[in-house]
Amino acid sequence: MKRNILRTSLCDLLGIEYPILLAGMWVKDGRATPPPLVAAVSNTGGLGVMAGLGLEPEVLRRRIREVRTMTSKPFGVDLLLPASLSEVPEERQRVRERLQREHPRQVTIARELMQKYGLPPVEEKGPAELSPPLMRRQVEVAVEERVPVLAVALGDAEWAVSLAHAQGIKVIGLAGSLRNALRQQEAGVDIIVAQGYEAGGHTGTVATLPLIPQVVDAVSPTPVVAAGGIADGRGLAASLALGAVGVWCGTAFLLAEESGLWQAHQEQIMAGASEDFIVTRCYTGKTARDYRNPVIEDWGASGVEPLPMPLQWVLMDDFVAAAEAAGKAELINNPCGQAAGMLGSVRPARRIVDEMVSGALEVYRRQEMEIVRSA
Ligand SMILES: Cc1cc2nc3c(=O)[nH]c(=O)nc-3n(C[C@H](O)[C@H](O)[C@H](O)COP(=O)(O)O)c2cc1C
Repeated sequence: MKRNILRTSLCDLLGIEYPILLAGMWVKDGRATPPPLVAAVSNTGGLGVMAGLGLEPEVLRRRIREVRTMTSKPFGVDLLLPASLSEVPEERQRVRERLQREHPRQVTIARELMQKYGLPPVEEKGPAELSPPLMRRQVEVAVEERVPVLAVALGDAEWAVSLAHAQGIKVIGLAGSLRNALRQQEAGVDIIVAQGYEAGGHTGTVATLPLIPQVVDAVSPTPVVAAGGIADGRGLAASLALGAVGVWCGTAFLLAEESGLWQAHQEQIMAGASEDFIVTRCYTGKTARDYRNPVIEDWGASGVEPLPMPLQWVLMDDFVAAAEAAGKAELINNPCGQAAGMLGSVRPARRIVDEMVSGALEVYRRQEMEIVRSA
């Protein structure tokens, strides 16, 4: 079958066919961007990117190798970096003890929520996300495995960039504001993903439409990839019109057949309107766009401020582990963007990519006709 052609400079930079990147998305146990989804996007000509945030380093290594058994195309790994290496270096148990000692009100609310929803207590056993030694080791593993692309968010990227560049690895820096885009550029990343407020997961305050042109102008000639609210060919064409060289899509791929997301969460996304995906600090302590669920409403009604990240995250991880053990996925945070309102069905990743490409080409064809007609 004849393939559509839609190339930008990003394709040459990353060795891919289409300027469409699967956003790294961390959901418990790596459900949102599992190796089959990462490989499927890469095999279709985009760039699959796997989130590694909560993975033990050796599990991350195994998953990178698993992707390699499924594709020979470029792919990436997305990790968070510590803000400073002295920030909360604790094990989960030590964070729990600190929570009991210093934040009894929030601990009580989390306990009352478990009682309200009939959840027997369970402790999350995985490594503490955002522990700086873990984050550093994850970067080292990705570099040791020579993943083609490393995407980094949050903290100082400079040390990760020099480790990666020494192995010929391209680095993508994520930013939700102009200031952070400039910070990423200073750290030496090769590509900047600028993510607008519409996005799922942790998000800033500036929407995609004003953010992209500002970042494009400020960081030129560093290439910019647009993120936040892009889920079809019209969004791809609009992003390129704003000066981006590609798109980084999360929400659109939450409904990929290859995603390991809980079915209840996929159903919330299919049924939800854009307004149902709200910004809350309830589950992680940092503003994140999640599906509005009863737990978020209850926490809001308590009048007690959530703790800063990562304390709130560790606190609510135990709630999430308990909800999962009880089979109540509807009480677990479902990070997802406003683009959910555009999505109505689960499709193979290949179709998501192909339809995005053909949709963008259709925009160009229509525009050409309309310009000719009005001339
Ligand atoms: C479920 C989910 C989990 C996410 N986890 C991460 C993550 O671990 N690291 C990261 O850099 N960004 C994460 N993000 C943000 C995405 O990488 C991406 O920027 C965002 O999804 C783009 O906006 P969109 O959802 O409107 O497509 C997450 C987003 C979602 C929806």
